[in-house]
Order: sequence, then C-alpha cells, then structure tokens
Amino acid sequence: MNKVINFLSATDIRFGVGAVQQVEQACAGLGIKKVLVVSDPFMVESGNVKHVTDVLDNTGVEYSIYSEFEPSPSVSQVLQASEFMQANDYDGIIGFGGGSSLDTAKAIAVLHSNPLPVEQYFGIDKVPNPVCPMILIPTTSGAGSEVSNACILRNEKTGVKGGICSGFIMANVAICDPALTVSCPPALTAAVGMDAYTHCIEGYVSNNANTITRLLHREAIRLISSNLRKAVANGKDIEARYNMMLGSMYAAWAMAVASLGACHAMAYAMEGKYHTSHGAANAALLPSVMKFNALGNLSLFREMAELMGENVESLNDREAALKAVASVKQLVEDIGIKSIRELGMTDEDVEPFAQSTLERQTRLLNFNPRALTVETCASIYRDALS
Ligand SMILES: NC(=O)c1ccc[n+]([C@@H]2O[C@H](COP(=O)([O-])OP(=O)(O)OC[C@H]3O[C@@H](n4cnc5c(N)ncnc54)[C@H](O)[C@@H]3O)[C@@H](O)[C@H]2O)c1
Ligand SMILES: [Fe+2]
Repeated sequence: MNKVINFLSATDIRFGVGAVQQVEQACAGLGIKKVLVVSDPFMVESGNVKHVTDVLDNTGVEYSIYSEFEPSPSVSQVLQASEFMQANDYDGIIGFGGGSSLDTAKAIAVLHSNPLPVEQYFGIDKVPNPVCPMILIPTTSGAGSEVSNACILRNEKTGVKGGICSGFIMANVAICDPALTVSCPPALTAAVGMDAYTHCIEGYVSNNANTITRLLHREAIRLISSNLRKAVANGKDIEARYNMMLGSMYAAWAMAVASLGACHAMAYAMEGKYHTSHGAANAALLPSVMKFNALGNLSLFREMAELMGENVESLNDREAALKAVASVKQLVEDIGIKSIRELGMTDEDVEPFAQSTLERQTRLLNFNPRALTVETCASIYRDALS
C-alpha cells in the first residue's frame, strides 16, 4: 500500500479478428506516408505478409519489405537492416511476424535515431533518443513483443542473446489479429505458447511483480492453461487462437515491469549453443525452475495451481504448489515439446551453462524470487536432464 508501483504500456492496442485492416488508420494517425515493412523470409515467401501489404496496397501509403534476417536476429543482421532504412527515406516501421520480425523492426528503429554500435543499448533504459513511429503486428501468440519494451538480439561475439529494454521501443500501435496465427503449425504453436506461459509464470513470482502485473498475469495463466492444448490440436479453432493471443499479450504487457527470471536466463545458454527455439528451451526447463522457486513462495504457487484449474482445496501449501509444477510438466508433455536432453543438451553442458547463466544473465536473475548460485543453477539443469 505504501509502495509506489509503476506500469508501462503501449499507447494504442487494436485487438480482434480482422484488426489487421486497421493498419490504414494506424498509418494515418501516425502521419506515416512511406513505411518499411519488416518481416522474415518465410513470412514473405509463404505470402503471409500479404495480410498487411494487401491493406497497404489500397491506401496512399508507399512501402518496401525488408526480410534479410533469420529467426532470432543477430546484431550484424540488424546493422545491415538499419543501413537499408537509413539509405531510404522512410517515416515509419511496421513489424509483421513472430517475435523475431518484431524485434528486428524495433532494433532498426533504435538505430534510425541513435548512433552505433547497437550493443551499447543492451540493458535497461540505455537508449537515449526516441524512435520513429512503429506499428507492430504479431503473427504468433508467444513473444508478445508488440506490447513489450524489449528487443532480443543474438550477440555473435558472445554467442548469447541479450535484451534492449526501453520505453522508447514500445509500439505506437499494436495490431493483434488472432486470425493471423491460424497458419502456425502445431509445433510452432506449442513452442511459442510455452514462451508466453513462461512469461506469465516467471512474472507472477518475480521480485518486481506488483498488483497491476499480477492482475494481467493471473488472467494470462488462466487463458493459456485452458487454450494451448486446443490451439495445438486444432489450429483452426479461432476461439482458442483468440484466447492464446490475448493471453500472450497480457503476459508480455506486464513483462515490461515484472520482467522474467531464471528460466529465461537458463534457456539463453541452450539457445546460444544449440539454436533451440526460444519457446521450446523455456518449456523444457520451466518445471525444474518452478520446483526450485516454489520453496519460498508456496502461496503464490498455490494460486497459480488454482488458475491452472488444479483442485488444491484439500492440499497443504507445499502439495498445492507442487501441483502447479506437475500441471506445467503435463502440459509440456501433452503438446509434444521435447525434453532438454532430446533438444541436444548433454551432462557436459551443465557446468559451462551454469557459469554462463550466472555471468551473463544478471539482469534476469535479479528478478528471480530465489537467488541462484552456479551450484544451484547446475542442479536445476541436472533436474531437467534427469
Ligand atoms: N521482445 C520481446 O519482448 C520478446 C519476448 C520473448 C521472445 N522474444 C524473441 O522473439 C523470438 C521468437 O519469436 P517467435 O517465437 O514469435 O518466433 P519467430 O519470430 O522466431 O518465428 C519462428 C518461425 O515461425 C514463422 N512464423 C511466424 N508466424 C507464422 C505464422 N502465422 N504462420 C506460419 N509460420 C509463422 C516464422 O517465419 C519463423 O520461421 C526470439 O528471438 C525471442 O528471443 C522477444
Ligand atoms: Fe520469452
């Protein structure tokens, strides 16, 4: 009650089936006349990007498409992309795709109004100048970059991912159209959905959670736990797609303040070495991280178990907390996510991964509710491998 709390938010969110049509009003509202559409090669080659360019074709807005980057974009790829932006006279950016496309759009926007090198902006609030108008349109329900203040890039020099976190890189307009996610195949739906689930589970128990972030995360946990199986089993289930997009948006919306924790920190080592998909790496580690974190937070874990639909009425706090862990483990198994060992991790990776996590991911570890040492981090990796 006596603590001042804060909440960061994108200014304008358009949510619902058909919302992509509103890109015209969004451009007009922001005074955009010539825009760079940033979307990865698959989205362009598969024709998915037409969902937005067809709308732009019927407006007076000029556009070009930029797609010279890979999923989990690297520092050098965004450098190249920003040179393209600088060489042309665009007055705004549209990011269209999964988190990789949206984060590339954010990084281009940062470099449009801020000097090189981009690495100097890794961390919290290190971007000095505001960026150009930006519209973000997600086509996966996972990363939530459309409402987050983060941009995640792979640093080729360290082999590890890092985040630029700044209020300046929140979208001016986030257009969330669940119909755009219907084309996501089951494995992608499962992995990105678990990324969103990890955001709300880590955020709910984060040291920085507050009453506003918990409000959003409660609903995100409820929505994702009751819709992810349906979205994986039947991608055309538009109600499940709608609820998953809402859940992933709520999860990431609160992330700007609540941040994440040890699961994301530990998953980055896996992604760096084995190029594992972000969502799959998180999913494979999440139950073991939850088991470790539950110890000092039994009542919050009990609440999560209830939100996940578990019957905990007759259980004590410890038993109820462990139900949340079991519930996540079952979900991961049901939607076909591989174990951390099947994803490539070996016993020999445990020590170097634990060292790297403690050295390089302090930003995230500071938010984890239970402090980690190299030894306890290694024990979590070992638990996931067992
Ligand atoms: N900025 C943030 O707040 C934030 C949060 C979490 C994760 N991330 C980052 O986001 C990235 C992951 O994003 P992602 O999980 O959304 O996947 P992604 O953007 O990497 O896309 C994965 C693949 O799915 C394809 N795809 C996207 N939408 C599709 C659709 N509708 N139909 C068919 N295929 C489609 C893409 O073309 C790509 O090949 C990672 O780099 C991660 O670190 C960012
Ligand atoms: Fe994530």
